[in-house]
Amino acid sequence: MLNGKRILLIVSGGIAAYKCLDAIRRLRAEGAAVRCVLSQGGARFVTPLALAALSGEKVYEDLFQLTDESEMGHIRLSREADLVLVAPASANILAKMAHGLADGLAATVLLATDKPVLAAPAMNVRMWNNAATAANLELLRQRGVLFVGPVEGDMACGEFGFGRMAEADDIVAAVGDFFRSGGRLEGRRALVTSGPTFEAIDPVRYIANRSSGKQGHAIAAALARRGAETTLVSGPTHEPDPPGVKMVRVESARQMLAACQAALPVDAAVCAAAVADWRVAEAAARKIKKTGASAPVLTLIENPDILSAIAKAGNRRPRLVVGFAAETDKVLDNALAKRQAKGCDWIVANDVSPSTGAIGGDANTVHLITVEGVENWPRMSKPAVAERLAQRISEALEAAS
Ligand code: CTP
Repeated sequence: MLNGKRILLIVSGGIAAYKCLDAIRRLRAEGAAVRCVLSQGGARFVTPLALAALSGEKVYEDLFQLTDESEMGHIRLSREADLVLVAPASANILAKMAHGLADGLAATVLLATDKPVLAAPAMNVRMWNNAATAANLELLRQRGVLFVGPVEGDMACGEFGFGRMAEADDIVAAVGDFFRSGGRLEGRRALVTSGPTFEAIDPVRYIANRSSGKQGHAIAAALARRGAETTLVSGPTHEPDPPGVKMVRVESARQMLAACQAALPVDAAVCAAAVADWRVAEAAARKIKKTGASAPVLTLIENPDILSAIAKAGNRRPRLVVGFAAETDKVLDNALAKRQAKGCDWIVANDVSPSTGAIGGDANTVHLITVEGVENWPRMSKPAVAERLAQRISEALEAAS
């Protein structure tokens, strides 16, 4: 799978560093050549000897060591790779990457490289949740850094939560994904719907739902980062506009449908919006007053189904149409039925029961349903779900062309 690929592995400080030993072994088993840079922090957790023994190559640690510089300067080190893999990527190295610090060999190589970078974050849940880390990650994502994980689980420090480094298998799979298709979407057009819709009752009141738009916006961002000309049609959210995306802001389902139809044709459409199923038959032109003796009765009528409309758009149908299925019970059965009923190619099914925290939260556990069957993805951050979905979309479009 990775024959002839050269991977520069940067090992920064963190207990998860032990997992990179297994990752090296697996990457080499797939045919890749692995060269390691060990940060000072990383050297507290794994030895250069272990890295050298597993990689079969010299390990680089010091920015100013003359023998290293004459043999392999940091610039050459950073350029002579097809992919730079940072695993574990500590909060510290991510902060250095985000802010351009070059205070050691690992950070300097990352600043000097012109190669794609894939990072596997690993840190305590509180560090992961800190606004500074989130901002650093966002910045790095915008600049095209790819991420695998982190995942949720028990931490070495005894806490539980997000921040655990992805397992070696997942890291190797992410490296494989990267090389398989290149993951690029230049020359492709994509349409994403996101957020809730608001359906007016009168000029002041409306019917809405709890969708935050986090997942849809992350998908649009991931597609745009891969080079797709991406239109994001979004209901009202507090999410910032993803960089490089053409934003179309709407309120109601009918406005969302019109905006989507105007954005066609596209190669891929992802409907992640939580579209209101019903609207008030006749929204009042003036604020409804409490004057009457009884409470007003609202008559609801069904909204158009945007996903169905896109999937059944005849010769304007995108090559790949992806829907979401928000379910609280019989998640897979209902999602499979929805895929059929709506005529989309893939459905991303997620359990939106309050206990999952999926609606409005930062993480999601999804199942990808395609014609080949059901894939159960582990619980991941919404941007990680988006990244993986974008990767799959790029592979599917490539296979179809
Ligand atoms: N969807 C849509 N337009 C609608 C309703 C839903 O485009 N009027 C899309 C959503 O964006 C999602 C998929 O259809 O991709 C499924 O949405 P979901 O809310 O899970 O299901 P519904 O079709 O609304 O069915 P139900 O509420 O009965 O579960």
